[in-house]
Amino acid sequence: MLGSGGREHALAWKLAQGKRVEQVFAGPGNAGTGGCARDLPAVNPARFETIADACRLNRIDCVFVGPEGPLADGVVDYLAEQKIPAIGPHRSAARLESSKSFSKAFMQRNGLPTAEAEEFADASSFEDFVRSAKGRRLVVKKSGLAAGKGVLESSRAEDLIPFGRAILQKDILLVEEFLDGWEVSIFGLSDGKDFIVLPPCTDFKKARDGDQGPNTGGMGSICPVPWVDPDLMNRIRRDVVEPTYAALSREGLGYAGVLYFGLMITADGPKLLEFNARFGDPEAQVILVRMRSDIVPILQGVAAGQLKETKIEWAKEPAVCVVLASKGYPDSSDSGRPIQGLETLKSEGDVVVFHAATNRKDGALLTIGGRVLGVTALGANLDVAVQRAYEAVAKVSFEGMQFRKDIGQKALARLHAPK
Ligand code: AMP
Ligand code: GLY
Repeated sequence: MLGSGGREHALAWKLAQGKRVEQVFAGPGNAGTGGCARDLPAVNPARFETIADACRLNRIDCVFVGPEGPLADGVVDYLAEQKIPAIGPHRSAARLESSKSFSKAFMQRNGLPTAEAEEFADASSFEDFVRSAKGRRLVVKKSGLAAGKGVLESSRAEDLIPFGRAILQKDILLVEEFLDGWEVSIFGLSDGKDFIVLPPCTDFKKARDGDQGPNTGGMGSICPVPWVDPDLMNRIRRDVVEPTYAALSREGLGYAGVLYFGLMITADGPKLLEFNARFGDPEAQVILVRMRSDIVPILQGVAAGQLKETKIEWAKEPAVCVVLASKGYPDSSDSGRPIQGLETLKSEGDVVVFHAATNRKDGALLTIGGRVLGVTALGANLDVAVQRAYEAVAKVSFEGMQFRKDIGQKALARLHAPK
């Protein structure tokens, strides 16, 4: 398992439950991964030779790549040259995430449903465009990777222009029409030929309650999404997922790995906001605690092009993840704060705390960045899961800890609302 975030802890935790797994390694891992894997602190995901060295030294059979950065930089291509099997898309397919410009062009030329967009490389034509929109709500997006923080939606030119200008100093940008609706995250697993769609999730991207504040990498998640019924899932499959995989194979992008479809369910049906070339964080946490099947044969199917016959069993119970973040996240990130209370949660079966930005120093558990922990709970229904997660959150603390108190509430409100 390559990476050190909450998603990677969840993956290492799930891999370690594999029946035929001898040993899971986490490179570099965090202060939680040692509970289920052997940490490889010498691995730096940005320096591919450290990954290959660790694989040889420890006789690692296969690498699962968690984060987007190494995928965008071609880690799967590099490991293939080194004859080390790895799960994740090649660099050319990872551009679906690492270049929003590439990704939008892919959607447009293949007729996939998405927001209309214009691309800009220079400030003056961008500013003219924004001013000519005359207060229409627009979304400005940095083309390259930005950890969920490269997007601003607003109807005010005075907000959009400085945001876009800052991007244009280093990158190109897209200006999109604003889509109104409900967001859903869909994940597909594919082996280059066949694909499986995983249960729908939602992540809560804004920093503060009531979807206020700046976008973050994700402050919480739920799985499944109670208002996404089988009809809507079928429509998502028919209008978005199937045409996407068909387009990938037409274009020879041979996509093996996890593909994330970020969707807005609008009055006109599902529309694509973005693709990611990997599991979401914190969506992986809620998906994986619900997966009852052994993940190892499934991933072997992905790697070997034999996904076709695979069935995945899921827990009936929904799952919720609440992210505990450091003071200042996402604008800045505090670190070095001791974390208290995790010991008391160890024995609670339906609650799993996945570590993210944590470190152990002289025996003490410390924060080392923005998103610190993901408290993940299952419950008989979503209300119960939410309640369990927050009961667990109440037992954990560190100085400056911030979290959203309304994870899951919007989905519950929609579920309970009169139709
Ligand atoms: P992206 O990185 O493209 O997924 O954008 C991050 C977040 O910004 C999404 O999850 C949405 O909440 C929001 N967003 C992006 N594009 C749009 C759009 N065209 N209309 C409305 N919201 C959007
Ligand atoms: N939670 C969204 C992401 O991983 O980008």
